[in-house]
This record gives sequence, structure tokens and C-alpha cells, in this order.
Amino acid sequence: MSPESTPFSAPAPDPVPAPAPVSATPRLDRRLSVAPMLDWTDRHYRYFARLITRHTLLYTEMVTTGALIHGERARFLRHDPAEHPLALQLGGSDPAQMAECARMGADWGYDELNINVGCPSDRVQSGRFGACLMAEPELVADCVAAMKAAVAIPVTVKTRIGIDERDSYEELAAFTRILQDAGCDALIMHARKAWLKGLSPRENRDVPPLRYDVVHRLKADFLALPMVINGGITTLEQTTEQLAVMDGVMIGREAYQNPWLLAAADQAIFGAGTSPPTPHAVLEALVPYIEQRLAEGVPLNAMTRHLLGLFHARPGAKAWRRHLSQQAHRPGAGVEVLLEAMRRVG
Ligand SMILES: Cc1cc2nc3c(=O)[nH]c(=O)nc-3n(C[C@H](O)[C@H](O)[C@H](O)COP(=O)(O)O)c2cc1C
Repeated sequence: MSPESTPFSAPAPDPVPAPAPVSATPRLDRRLSVAPMLDWTDRHYRYFARLITRHTLLYTEMVTTGALIHGERARFLRHDPAEHPLALQLGGSDPAQMAECARMGADWGYDELNINVGCPSDRVQSGRFGACLMAEPELVADCVAAMKAAVAIPVTVKTRIGIDERDSYEELAAFTRILQDAGCDALIMHARKAWLKGLSPRENRDVPPLRYDVVHRLKADFLALPMVINGGITTLEQTTEQLAVMDGVMIGREAYQNPWLLAAADQAIFGAGTSPPTPHAVLEALVPYIEQRLAEGVPLNAMTRHLLGLFHARPGAKAWRRHLSQQAHRPGAGVEVLLEAMRRVG
């Protein structure tokens, strides 16, 4: 009998609890993500998308530091726990304010903070953030460093391959090096440059040509920096091809206009053993969420507008869209509108 086990020895102390992990977030899998899109990737879209794919990383719409510091913080930060893994995209360029907002994001449970260095709108330029920050790499680096010092979750940057005439590979590589040195955890590259004057944000998503070759070269030159490619990718086949050289793929418009694209992602991209759901099963799972939000006063249309593309290019798509668009905005519209639209699609 060992001395420890004699009936006369002092009781063993309670086991010391394991130290809390520095970050509660496991390493983020960025192989596939849905892009941040203003007015589109709000919490209702994200909840819906999460019912389609368990593993795809989701991003919020861009939220400005001003809105978080001076505005209705909860309105911008609240989300459902089911939405994880979930990244918060911030728009701003004041390192202290970015750090303050990073702390809010971490406190609210986000898994990643992303800085918007890709939006070309005039409004954003006058606020000195978005794509125009590519001309101020040191300032972006200061934001990254300040945010990294404030939180334990990853800090990433979403950017373009250049702006205006400043589109040389050397300048892009120098920009990337500065961000890497500041501790940026991953770079998301929209594979086209932005014209800050003369093109609308919408045109800036289509007019400047896609240059995947530039992004692939950058990845080859910065092997240690996780890099995600974005722009013009519309299928999981293209995603798989890109993953041969990139760490991840971010899909924007197609994931919104044709969300069913995401249904095969868990298996095809993340290797999960689960089989894809059916659209009707997804909608049935969405009903309780919609009922809860309706009870809180959210109008039906604010949620169902994100569902219009669900049957994209499938039989019944038109009847589905028509019923939802004609009925869901009516005052007092409830979940029965959705159920009826489901019946019409068969
Ligand atoms: C409606 C809409 C809103 C967008 N809002 C944002 C935004 O808030 N932040 C951002 O970084 N990019 C934004 N983007 C750009 C997308 O994130 C993405 O970079 C772009 O659409 C290219 O990807 P895609 O070809 O897969 O759509 C937006 C795009 C669209 C269509």
C-alpha cells in the first residue's frame, strides 16, 4: 500500500484544471468560405447557409468601426451560435479603434477578424478604408498589429491585387510582406485590381480582369502565409482545382444567388462523412428560426429574401421565387407563406 492511499493521509487535492486554451477557437479551416457581402450575408442568410453546409467558413457583412463604437453595437454583432465558424469583417483604419472593435468581436465570440482592404466605394474611400488602404501598407500593418495585440483569434486581411495604376507585382509582394511581418494570419485575395475612380463598386467586381496567375505567384512566393483566392469562382470543381495551389477559396455572388452550390461542400471539400441535405429538409429546419425571429418583430421578407435562389436552375424555381416575392413582404406575413412556397416547388 503506498503512503498516499493510507486512510490516515491527507485527502488528495482536487486535480488542477487544465489551463484554458489561449483561444477557444480551434484552428480555422479556410478551404471554403462565403465572402462578406453588404446587405446579403446578414445573420439570416448565414443561419440559412449554415443549414446547408456545416464546415464552410462564413463572413459577416462589413461593419465599420464607427458603427460599432458609436452605433447600435448589438445590432451589428449579434448572431446565432449555430453560425460558427464565423468571421467578422471590419472597415476602418485607425489602429486603436480597430483594436477596440477587435476586442468587441472576440468578446462576442467571433472566430476571426478580417480587415476590408478591397472595397472601392466612394463612401469607403472618404472614410479612408477599404481598397484605398493598399496605398498605405504601413497603416494596414499597424491595424493588424494592434488587433493582434488585443485578441487571441486570427486577424486576416481581404484585399485586391492592386489599385489604379499601382498594380505591379513588386508592389503587391511588398504589401504582402509588410502584412505578414505584422502578424497577419491569412490573406484573402480578390484576384482583380480595383479602379478607385470611374468605376462603381459593382463594375469593380466585373470589369478589371481576373488574374489568378498573379495570386498563384504570390502564394508560391509566400508559402508560409495562408492565402485564400476569391473572384469569379462558381463551382466546387473550380474550388478543388484552386486548392491544389491555394489554402482556400472564397465564393461570393454564386454562394448567394445559388446557395445550393454549398450543399456538397462538406463532403467534396472538407471530406465530411455526412451526406448533403435536401432543400426541403433545410427549409423545414429553418422554420423554427423564422418563427422565433418573427416573434421578435423581424419581418418575414427580411429572411425569405435570402432564400430566393435556393432552387436556382431547378424545376419549380420560378414558382418558388414568385410566391415568396409576392407574398412575403405583406404586412403580417408569417411562416405559412414559406410553407406554401415549398408546396409550389413540389
Ligand atoms: C452585394 C455585394 C456586397 C459586397 N460587400 C462586400 C463587403 O462588405 N466586404 C468585402 O470585402 N467585399 C464585399 N463584396 C465583394 C465580395 O466579397 C467578393 O470579393 C466579390 O463579390 C468577388 O467574389 P465573387 O466573384 O465570388 O462574387 C461584396 C460583393 C457583393 C456582390
